[in-house]
Amino acid sequence: MDDPDSLSARLLSWYDRHARVMPWRIAPQDRAAGVRPDPYRVWLSEVMLQQTTVAAVKDYFHRFTARWPTVRDLAAAADADVMGEWAGLGYYARARNLLKCARAVVADHAGQFPTTREGLLTLPGIGPYTASAIAAIAYDESATVVDGNVERVISRLFLVGTPLPAAKPELTALAARLTPAERPGDYAQAIMDLGATICTPRSPACGICPWVHACAARAQGVQADLPRKSPKPEKPTRRGTLWLGHRDGAILLERRPDSGLLGGMLGIPGDGWDGQGGPAPALAPWREIGEVRHTFTHFHLILTVLAAHLDSPPSRGELVARHAFRPADLPTVMRKAWDLARHEIDAQPGAS
Ligand code: ADE
Repeated sequence: MDDPDSLSARLLSWYDRHARVMPWRIAPQDRAAGVRPDPYRVWLSEVMLQQTTVAAVKDYFHRFTARWPTVRDLAAAADADVMGEWAGLGYYARARNLLKCARAVVADHAGQFPTTREGLLTLPGIGPYTASAIAAIAYDESATVVDGNVERVISRLFLVGTPLPAAKPELTALAARLTPAERPGDYAQAIMDLGATICTPRSPACGICPWVHACAARAQGVQADLPRKSPKPEKPTRRGTLWLGHRDGAILLERRPDSGLLGGMLGIPGDGWDGQGGPAPALAPWREIGEVRHTFTHFHLILTVLAAHLDSPPSRGELVARHAFRPADLPTVMRKAWDLARHEIDAQPGAS
């Protein structure tokens, strides 16, 4: 096995040639010329990238930074606007924490992100992974960044047979041995890029990998079998109802409670699936218009969607005029229900 310094040097020289271009990233050549990343953009991208792919994040990142170019702008935003822009990205606790964090940076740190991993960890929504990523990428602290890509690379390089998640501490310790003191920010991004583009889950491109000569899994031909994973428990299926009430093109919506599933998001009133429902919002000739299916982290969901024209005032939620409502502000499961009903609602007088 090569020594850590020559491994990191090889990876960095690969990164100098093959770094992926990302809207929040400073290219290695620019970084070498002294351009520093904006910690706000690094933080925002890392929070968005938790549990979400680079491809899915790019548009959201552009919209957020166009609308709120600095952490002060974001801290001053209305909650509903931020939740609306986040809609569709999922894991909505991240958006609530994003706002809390921006406000803490402004209130407690004069609008400047703390410059160390330790300091970053004190902020809401910033856990060990995100603190390491920001410390390394924004401030060139020699922090070890371990995401799913890095776990895969390290488990192969060192032939770690322990299944995930039990292998995490071992993989983190091995990854830390390789983290260099020189260019740790580029190195963190390089190892993530290696995992995303070469050391891929099913058919890794070992022939063009800068670490192929040192890879213990490759030497034994078992790279595609690593990392091993403990079987995940089966997800249960929950069922429930959504009542899509409308009147003259206005739609009945409610703001969901801050805590719990889809917390703080706009939703269609429902019951039976999240422990937060209630009775039908009005006496009306409810008619089943279809079913939506959606999978959350811990369960599959099947919702029966009922629609009705509301003649009497609803007991919950608020009728929102069609022009005051952006379907894109709805979380994906609600958006699917809206898609079932939109033709009929948009065809009504008053809808446009
Ligand atoms: N995944 C999460 N953060 C990333 C980054 N900074 N570069 C590449 N992939 C990432």
